[in-house]
Amino acid sequence: MADYNPAKGAHGGVAPSLDATIWSRRDIFSLAGWAGVVGVIGASLLAFTRFMFPRVLFEPSPVFAADRPENFPSRTVDERWKKSQRVWIVRREDGSFYALLAICTHLGCTPNWFSAEDKFKCPCHGSGFKRDGTNFEGPAPRPLDRIRLSLSPEGLLVVDKGQIFRMAPGVSPDQQYPQSILRV
Ligand code: FES
Repeated sequence: MADYNPAKGAHGGVAPSLDATIWSRRDIFSLAGWAGVVGVIGASLLAFTRFMFPRVLFEPSPVFAADRPENFPSRTVDERWKKSQRVWIVRREDGSFYALLAICTHLGCTPNWFSAEDKFKCPCHGSGFKRDGTNFEGPAPRPLDRIRLSLSPEGLLVVDKGQIFRMAPGVSPDQQYPQSILRV
């Protein structure tokens, strides 16, 4: 009986070389190299795309048009924009206006308007503010801030929350910022 020769295979032919059936080391390194190149290109493309579309926060405009002056009864605190804008528009007896920011100057809660008591009262720690915004009770250290109010060419009151009259303590808001009062 003839001896089995692994080089010739079981039937005497030439056995297939291992190199012919699996990838060589060179192939694997080459593939890894190309994968790296593709990865770097992909990451660069991703970075470029993010650069072209930066994460910008589009905030709503601080300016909004309210209503016509004639739609505000005299001596009223109008709460129509309190929820959406945190703004009260106040009309005085003489027909003039000012806008108050509905943010408590203690820690930023939203006060409520109590017309029967003619005052704003903060539900968080009890600060009270007069109709003109002056603080008179509780821990709030200063009056409510006012906001720039103007009249548009179309005859609407326009509130610009980008222009805030920051009130200091101890001085009447009207005296601190006479420009916060709009006379129409
Ligand atoms: Fe208004 Fe404290 S936040 S009293």
